[in-house]
Amino acid sequence: MTEKEFIPSPYTKSVSSGKTTYKSPSNIALVKYWGKKKNQIPANPSISFTLSECATVTTLSYIKLDTPSAIFSFNVSLDGKKEEGFKPKIKTFFERVYQYLPFLKDYHFEIETSNSFPHSSGIASSASGMSALALCLMEIERNLNPKMTAEFFNQKASFLARLGSGSAARSIKGSLVQWGEHADIDASSDLYGVEYPHKVHRIFQNYCDTILLVDKGQKQVSSTVGHDLMHGHPFAEQRFNQAHENLSKLQSIFETGDIDEFIGIVESEALTLHAMMMTSRPYFILMKPNTLEIINKIWAFRETSKTHVCFTLDAGANVHVLYPENEKVEVEQFIKDELAQFCQNGQFINDHVGKGAQKIN
Ligand code: DP6
Repeated sequence: MTEKEFIPSPYTKSVSSGKTTYKSPSNIALVKYWGKKKNQIPANPSISFTLSECATVTTLSYIKLDTPSAIFSFNVSLDGKKEEGFKPKIKTFFERVYQYLPFLKDYHFEIETSNSFPHSSGIASSASGMSALALCLMEIERNLNPKMTAEFFNQKASFLARLGSGSAARSIKGSLVQWGEHADIDASSDLYGVEYPHKVHRIFQNYCDTILLVDKGQKQVSSTVGHDLMHGHPFAEQRFNQAHENLSKLQSIFETGDIDEFIGIVESEALTLHAMMMTSRPYFILMKPNTLEIINKIWAFRETSKTHVCFTLDAGANVHVLYPENEKVEVEQFIKDELAQFCQNGQFINDHVGKGAQKIN
């Protein structure tokens, strides 16, 4: 597929108004996306577990205008309250996707959104938020072109979500989603995420992820600025190659269920992401003292308990604690007893691998 194939032919139907609702999950990357080229093309392939509890629900109401508008006409609200602060990001998104969704200036939109996770918890809502909005827009396009296949619907939803936020491309369909071209995965693309097509051992099919809210403050570095720091980064090429290699290694790990090797790759990916931030100019340390306390506790507990608990990080101080379902009782007790003390207000969210976005209405 090329970008051009996402530009629609003239629509066969006309729709005057409607309303649609999607619930879309957040995801946690195992191999990280860090660095991008023009038009939201990733510098390296990435793969993530789709989450289940951490999700955004978006309702999009649309009404056809008498004459097409010169600008994008929309309002956005969060939890029932108008949210002017979200408008610039959505406007930019509409500008980026307009050539692929030419109906955007024909309608007025009301976007109502709510997150299942606490607002400003430091959990990235861009993946769930942008994928939910992309799905709602695809629903309109499907009404205008009812012959569209389900496969194309999901592909284009991921393609559009990517233009909103790169990691959102991995929040449409599937439990394990890969985004970015990789030699071992024929169907892989820089343009959209695909459900991981190879064998996945049952141990990885219901993996658990407890998100420890270490620092709920405003992001110190926006993802756009962060990705940009990989341009001219002294270790960029090695890092991008490493991501390809880690994805190749994961293939046999996913197949055989080799959890020790899995842990090695996942923790190394998290630390490499932060190492990239620490070695760019300007440089950042996004971990907090409590992030390190937690990591050390996890390592000590893994050693003594012989469980397979491990961690990963996104571009912030929060820690994702990953563990297999059959160790849930023991690990969740450990989290309560030993890790919750390092979280802001003792807050954490128990989540697990989900299946992808859902149409609600
Ligand atoms: C560290 O998807 O938030 O979470 O494309 O600029 O919106 P933009 O970036 P974003 O970057 C996420 C980076 C990451 C790693 C990952 O999810 O792969």
